[in-house]
Parts: sequence; C-alpha cells; structure tokens
Amino acid sequence: MFSIRVMTLDDYDAVIELMRMTPGISLRDADSREATSRYLERNPEMSFVAQIDGALCGCVMCGHDGRRGYLQHLLVLPQYRRQGIANGLVERGLARLEALGIQKCHLDVLKTNEAAARYWQRQGWQLRTDIDRYSFIRSGNRNA
Ligand SMILES: CC(C)(COP(=O)(O)OP(=O)(O)OC[C@H]1O[C@@H](n2cnc3c(N)ncnc32)[C@H](O)[C@@H]1OP(=O)(O)O)[C@@H](O)C(=O)NCCC(=O)NCCS
Repeated sequence: MFSIRVMTLDDYDAVIELMRMTPGISLRDADSREATSRYLERNPEMSFVAQIDGALCGCVMCGHDGRRGYLQHLLVLPQYRRQGIANGLVERGLARLEALGIQKCHLDVLKTNEAAARYWQRQGWQLRTDIDRYSFIRSGNRNA
C-alpha cells in the first residue's frame, strides 16, 4: 500500500530523478533547486510525494496565483501505476486548493503525451479548445 505526504525541499533530488526517468515530463531551468524552494515556500503543503516501502514512487506539484490552481509534474513510476496513486496525489492537491477557496485548477499537457490526455479526460478534466496559451521568455533562455 502506498502513502502520500507533503513534499519538502529534502525530496528535491529524488523527485528530479523521478522526473528524469519519466517520458512525458519536461525538465526546465524552472525546476532548479532554487526555483523549487521558492515554489514550495510560496505554496506551502500543496505538493505531494507518494511512497511505497520508504521509496518515492510518485509526485505532484501544486500551486496557485490566488485565483486559480495549477498542477504540474504529476507522475507515478511505471511499476506502480494503475493503483490509484495519481488520483490520490491529485486529490490532495485539489483539496488544499479548495481549502483556500480555489475551485478551478489548470494544467498543461504536451500534445505528444497521449496517455496523459487520456488519463485527465477520464478523470473529468476538460480539454480547452477555446483558448491558446502564450508564453514569453524575458531572458532569451529557451529552457527557462
Ligand atoms: C498519468 C499517470 C500519472 C497515471 O498514474 P496512475 O497512478 O497509474 O493513475 P491512477 O492509478 O491513479 O489511475 C486513476 C484512473 O486513471 C486511469 N488511468 C491511469 N492511467 C491511464 C492512462 N494512461 N490512460 C487512461 N486511463 C488511465 C486508471 O485506470 C484509473 O481509472 P478509474 O479512476 O476509472 O479507476 C501515470 O501514467 C504517469 O506517471 N504517466 C507519465 C507521466 C505523465 O505523463 N504525467 C502527466 C503529465 S501532464
């Protein structure tokens, strides 16, 4: 059986390793230790890790801008999938958002990640076809 607990900066190296091992997850400069520390401080007790026998097997990072919630980096190691771990992680994040009065949450999925698209749609998340996301990188660093 798995357990879920709040992610802390001490989990950083293990979480980055999980991300590196998972196709469909893209790592950016915004995933540096410094940026992750800032993110966790700004969004206390909103990101979670799942553990089995003391080892990390999944994670989700969750935050908000005061108005809408955002989920990122949901992943579960392949050998632990299909036992409700992702749903458990997402539920913890959404419950924290709800406790803050935030009912709506967004997330980005790479268009090439068809399995993730199936997962989110099956869980009732609505694919937005009415908006396009625009991004601007001030530094000129394309991996920002
Ligand atoms: C997507 C992912 C997080 C799902 O993890 P998981 O722990 O297997 O998911 P769960 O066991 O909680 O599944 C919950 C439900 O989703 C379904 N589901 C899980 N993976 C699915 C998939 N690839 N396609 C369709 N349905 C899926 C399960 O059957 C289950 O359905 P139910 O609620 O009707 O019983 C996992 O496959 C993963 O890590 N993928 C790679 C990383 C990734 O793409 N993350 C998303 C980035 S946006």
